[in-house]
Amino acid sequence: FNNFLTDKFQRKHTYLRISLTEKCNLRCTYCMPAAGVELTPNEKLLTSEEIIRLAKLFVSQGINKIRLTGGEPTVRKDIVELVGELGRLKPLGLETLAMTSNGIALKRKLPQLVKNGLNLLNISLDTLDPFKFELITRRKGLERVLEAIDHAVALDFSPPKVNCVIIRGVNDGEFLDFVELTRNKPLDVRFIEYMPFDGNKWSQNKLVPYQELLKTLFNKYPDAKQLTDDPHDTSKAYRVPGFSGKIGFITSMSDHFCGTCNRLRITADGNLKVCLFGNTEVSLRDLLRNKVPDEQILEFIGMAVGNKKKQHAGMFELAAAKNRPMILIVTGLNYF
Ligand code: GTP
Ligand code: 5AD
Ligand code: SF4
Repeated sequence: FNNFLTDKFQRKHTYLRISLTEKCNLRCTYCMPAAGVELTPNEKLLTSEEIIRLAKLFVSQGINKIRLTGGEPTVRKDIVELVGELGRLKPLGLETLAMTSNGIALKRKLPQLVKNGLNLLNISLDTLDPFKFELITRRKGLERVLEAIDHAVALDFSPPKVNCVIIRGVNDGEFLDFVELTRNKPLDVRFIEYMPFDGNKWSQNKLVPYQELLKTLFNKYPDAKQLTDDPHDTSKAYRVPGFSGKIGFITSMSDHFCGTCNRLRITADGNLKVCLFGNTEVSLRDLLRNKVPDEQILEFIGMAVGNKKKQHAGMFELAAAKNRPMILIVTGLNYF
């Protein structure tokens, strides 16, 4: 490979997150402001052909894992076919085709997605209480998400990960209930530290640092064991002996993992974003539409990756900075 995907700190980028849509069938308070977000006009969003072309180009440079995100990726009408097309990149070096979904519209589509090559699934779920579910997501649907999780377990393709953003005063009291979920189900429940984005009313006292959750874990299960993580894992994994699943902590705020970051993302409108918290973006869509040859597109990609910062700002700088809502970060609407 040319080293288009290696940055100046020798981080090799092998994991590409592609946002398929800005739309979502939920309205999570920590992700988007109450008023919602203004959507990019359709003609500015990547077409499926463009997504596949870019995916191929990245896989040719060493990307071996692609995660489909949103908004909510299952909202995209051609999601099953698109996964099928991306699944065809497996003989070319793609090893993992993953998706992060809120689970609302997943159950019916799941068998076909798995058949078409999806081999890793993360489902977001922050509460097991229907009333709180509505409070957090501003929609109903807890039953459907729980069904999607059970369905994913039954399909037996790889243990689904459950993403749970912990917010003090909202769902921190449910921490041990989520740990309990892993007793009989082979789930990987990951507790995510609440991150500040514009409009999500973050404050330091709503953040529950993982050290605090660990104390609660060990109070209840003194024999819980820390597991060995892969170098690029976002989470620190633990298991309660005898439980079939495991838990993990995603410590983006109290202990960032920038040093081993191997991620790049493409927003729904086709911008390459080299860091979740950075504002450097390159429009791959415009390059494609201006018929720029692959070799030159790679040079632009190489420049953006080369300029990736060593690490994102600390907690207080992030909270004070003007930052897009999460839904726009994963989708990349021009917010500023
Ligand atoms: P795996 O591929 O299964 O390891 O999942 P993941 O953790 O990469 O992705 P997922 O979509 O499940 O995201 C879960 C959480 O990870 C998000 O809420 C973020 O807190 C965190 N995360 C994902 N990507 C990044 C990133 O590039 N930088 C930082 N700081 N955090 C990230
Ligand atoms: N802080 C932490 N995690 C967040 N997510 C969305 N917004 C935030 C935030 N402010 C999570 C979702 C999803 C993952 C992709 O990002 O819950 O699981
Ligand atoms: Fe939708 Fe996910 Fe944002 Fe919730 S966190 S509104 S499910 S994109």
